[in-house]
Amino acid sequence: MEMKDKIEQVKARFQEEMQSICGTEELEKIRVAYLGKKGLITDLMKNLKDLNADAKREAGQQINQLKQQVSEFIAAKSSELEAALAQARLQQDTRYDISLPAKPVTGTLHPITIVQRELEDIFRSMGFAVEDFKEVVTEYDNFEAVNIPKYHPARDMQDTYYLDNGQVLKTHTSAAQNTILRKYGAPCRAIFPGRCFRNEAIDASHENTFFQMEGIMVGEDISISNLIYFMKTMLSEVFQKDITVRLRPGFFPFVEPGFELDIQCHVCGGTGCPTCKQGGWIELCPCGMIHPNVLTMAGIDSEKYTGFAFGLGLTRLAMMKFGIRDIRVFNSGNLKSLEQFTIQ
Ligand code: DAH
Repeated sequence: MEMKDKIEQVKARFQEEMQSICGTEELEKIRVAYLGKKGLITDLMKNLKDLNADAKREAGQQINQLKQQVSEFIAAKSSELEAALAQARLQQDTRYDISLPAKPVTGTLHPITIVQRELEDIFRSMGFAVEDFKEVVTEYDNFEAVNIPKYHPARDMQDTYYLDNGQVLKTHTSAAQNTILRKYGAPCRAIFPGRCFRNEAIDASHENTFFQMEGIMVGEDISISNLIYFMKTMLSEVFQKDITVRLRPGFFPFVEPGFELDIQCHVCGGTGCPTCKQGGWIELCPCGMIHPNVLTMAGIDSEKYTGFAFGLGLTRLAMMKFGIRDIRVFNSGNLKSLEQFTIQ
């Protein structure tokens, strides 16, 4: 028989045998029968030596082509069989049924977590990164890096818990400013919620352990109007209505100028009610333009870049949002009280 016919014969036989394949073991047998050391295609190759140069080239090409077709076919069949096998295994597996509805989650989120997550979503949608930070920090991060040098009277404003190793429990989320400004450089926008601690006597409106959420935005033309825009947008989302804000001067060593941001009372709309103590305005969030020293200490060129920062009292915001009158409920561990403040 001519070489060409032999090749055709092998090809036809392969095609026929492949039609009835239904398992991976069978497929492997066929692979060996054709491509193995003693396989049919290997045999064809061996026969080449009896041909003259021209015939050898031609037949060689045909055999190689066949070999490639066979290999590709086997590979495709193999993935097909494996996929079918995996599917079958899934169907037999009775441990998991992914089509069943999930079991209801027991427990509820803490009201502060609810507000924190809501704010994170809002700021993320405005392009802010969300960062976490330690609770035990160096004095440098808590004070020096935010322009509160040693012996500065502002240190007394924050009753700090000092640890034996010289570090402190962070008194404000501003303690993360330096690290985060260094991490991102300029331009950047980030928020960093966190737990803060101050050595204070506890009563209905004071806690020694509370949450803040700091935000920073740095860029080439950042101004107070950017600050107002972001705060207004964020607060309107939180309270689900248009919120009017105003700025009053305020002093914080790490901002210049510094402000207290007030919102027009979301309950009475500014006419005066118990929530705003009849004043029509509620003090909500200290903020300001980041002091050039703070930028410089974080390695940012303060000639070229400016930025704003704010330190939102998360605990306070949660109290306002849920109408909680006594701050002590947050750390009480009293589930009966805490479970009321959920949004499902
Ligand atoms: N760190 C301040 C505090 O806890 C709050 C604060 C004020 C943060 C002004 C800021 C800011 O970022 O700009 O008392």
